[in-house]
Amino acid sequence: MFFNFFILVALFLVDFSPASCEVDAFIFNGFQSANLSLDGIAQFTSTDLLLLTNSGTQNQGHAFYPNPIHFKNSPNGSVFSFSTTFVFAIRSDYGNLSGHGLVFVIAPHKGLQGSLANHYLGLFNSNNNGNGLNHVIGVELDTIYSEDFGDINDNHVGIDINGLRSVAIHTAGYFDDTGFFHNLTLISGKEMQVWIDYDGRTKQMNVTVAQLHMEKPVRPLLALKHDLSSILDQTMYVGFSSSTGSVPTHHYILGWSFKTNGKAQELSQLPELPRLGSKGTSRFVTIGLPIISLVSVVAAVLAVVYYVRRKKYEEIHEDWEREYRLQRFKYKELYIATKGFREKEVLGAGGFGKVYKGVMPITKLEIAVKKISHESRQGMKEFISEIVSIGRMQHRNVVQLLGYCRRKGELILIYEYMSNGSLDKYLYDQPRYTLDWNQRFRVIRGVASGLFFLHEECDHVVIHRDVKASNVLLDGELNGKLGDFGLARLYGHGTDPQSTRVVGTLGYLAPEHTRTGRATPSSDVFSFGAFLLEVACGRRPIQPRQDGDDLILVDWVFSCWNRGNILDAADPNIGIDFVPGQVELVLKLGLFCSHSDPSCRPTMRQILLFLDGVVALPELSELGVSSANLTFEHRGGFDDFVKSYPTSLGYAYSGSPSVTDSFLSGGR
Ligand SMILES: *[C@@H]1O[C@H](CO)[C@@H](O)[C@H](O)[C@H]1NC(C)=O
Ligand SMILES: *[C@@H]1O[C@H](CO)[C@@H](O)[C@H](O)[C@H]1NC(C)=O
Ligand SMILES: *[C@@H]1O[C@H](CO)[C@@H](O)[C@H](O)[C@H]1NC(C)=O
Ligand SMILES: *[C@@H]1O[C@H](CO)[C@@H](O)[C@H](O)[C@H]1NC(C)=O
Ligand SMILES: *[C@@H]1O[C@H](CO)[C@@H](O)[C@H](O)[C@H]1NC(C)=O
Repeated sequence: MFFNFFILVALFLVDFSPASCEVDAFIFNGFQSANLSLDGIAQFTSTDLLLLTNSGTQNQGHAFYPNPIHFKNSPNGSVFSFSTTFVFAIRSDYGNLSGHGLVFVIAPHKGLQGSLANHYLGLFNSNNNGNGLNHVIGVELDTIYSEDFGDINDNHVGIDINGLRSVAIHTAGYFDDTGFFHNLTLISGKEMQVWIDYDGRTKQMNVTVAQLHMEKPVRPLLALKHDLSSILDQTMYVGFSSSTGSVPTHHYILGWSFKTNGKAQELSQLPELPRLGSKGTSRFVTIGLPIISLVSVVAAVLAVVYYVRRKKYEEIHEDWEREYRLQRFKYKELYIATKGFREKEVLGAGGFGKVYKGVMPITKLEIAVKKISHESRQGMKEFISEIVSIGRMQHRNVVQLLGYCRRKGELILIYEYMSNGSLDKYLYDQPRYTLDWNQRFRVIRGVASGLFFLHEECDHVVIHRDVKASNVLLDGELNGKLGDFGLARLYGHGTDPQSTRVVGTLGYLAPEHTRTGRATPSSDVFSFGAFLLEVACGRRPIQPRQDGDDLILVDWVFSCWNRGNILDAADPNIGIDFVPGQVELVLKLGLFCSHSDPSCRPTMRQILLFLDGVVALPELSELGVSSANLTFEHRGGFDDFVKSYPTSLGYAYSGSPSVTDSFLSGGR
């Protein structure tokens, strides 16, 4: 690299010596800012080397000194003596295979029109090879054996006149002082020096080759007696030609010196060849490495993308799930259906996760997708088996489960989409729309029938565990359907009663359920009672109030009944078109279901009979309902309950802290 400072010292001397002949001379110690005329793929490297060919195949490169050289005084005169020396190196990308070689050439033009690569060495073509009109002299450093041209081997030096059949030829090498011949391998990649001397008087041309830094051998490798005057014109151009065959080969010239009528100046301080394995030395480095790096980068990116995508859509499958494969949804489809679980698609959020609206990609079926965080696999099998079996049975008042999907830490349930959302939206908190009594009664009747189905019409008893207005969903025709059945079970699961967590929603939990942690159909009935009251009254079971004294709905309804005016408890929003007896029935039934003793509560079957008027509801006093046995007086087990109480299951209900507080303080 430091040789950048060694510049071409190109001298152009015109010497009117007594011999009265011109002298042309130049020297290039490296080719920094050298003015040579290049063609083909010849180029200068950034390290000041002349690179005749690089990696290409079937290519040739030429470099000529730009100015003509005077070889004679007159067209019929004799050729001047001349002398030239240069340092070259031939490096192949493929070890002992190489391109065709390198030629020092004296030609009538800069460049060699119509020349071919390969074994024509960039000098001739099949038509003009050997033609006396060529006026071309070459000294070839031939690295390929071409039988056609009388080559002796693939590593020889030859003198070519007008054609490639050498008039003098010898294996590359040199004779030492004792006359012993030493082989040189031209394609070894090592720097070698060539001297070409022509004596105008003796008409002898000597060609000598040696390794760089060696003294010039005294005995030339080739000595050809040949009068060049018929071949060389008065002015000629000097340069180099080189060609690659099928093997990409670098042909370098490191320095070059030339002189007519005198001895060429010795070269010194030549630039260095690129280190092997570094830039410019091999195709692998110049082309292969960038391609490999690019390919690896692209491959790495693709791998990451693939991994991320796989990770993104990764699911959990277990062996026992095989029988539910019809209910299994692909996470990727759900991801697309919910537009990547976008916040905009959220229908509601509850303690266990969010519910998203989705549209299945192909069927365009509208779905509700509930995403539940769930780390434990315990109880999962039973849970899925239960919800799938219910889903298979179908009931018009139970939200249809379409299927499920499982991922690490996530359970995803897919339900039919209920266009009117959850019932609670229509009941309290100054609703935009309310339901009139007949609509409410139809919902109540539907939910009762759905719960009856779960309790008595399924393969086995299914306990909903979380009946409440926010878990009742309305379809387009305002039919009420129970949602989220059994989900609490997944969370309340446990074989050891001591460790059983109570899951449900405050205000709907039966006292014995709170105490024992065991859910029964009867605890569902209790919740259903709270549901009846909230639908009829348009109030939450526990209504926080400004003065901190929270309204316990069941107590309040009971007090209305006690005053003999139970209809005072009814929601004013139910309109005027209702049968008072029906409202009264629902309110009383709500109180009946709230009985603290589970054995005193009605069953869902009985409730349906009452609602349908098949059986008349007895007087509350006959049923043992009194303020003493309504729920909130039971305080046993509350401490345990508090510790394990999770947030609401429903996605539209958000219990406020004051609700919990009031509960802790024991209600009223
Ligand atoms: C290179 O040499 C040619 C021929 O002598 C000449 O026309 C040209 O101006 C030279 N260019 C430079 C940059 O020296
Ligand atoms: C050069 O030689 C050719 C024949 O070889 C001859 O015809 C011609 O006249 C000569 N020219 C001069 C200037 O001597
Ligand atoms: C090239 O070298 C390999 C081993 O490196 C050898 O097997 C092969 O014969 C050589 N070919 C020539 C043409 O020398
Ligand atoms: C030189 O090379 C030739 C041909 O490759 C071979 O026949 C000869 O034995 C070699 N001589 C020496 C001294 O290595
Ligand atoms: C060519 O080599 C011979 C020895 O083989 C020598 O006598 C002669 O002077 C050399 N000619 C030149 C021009 O170097």
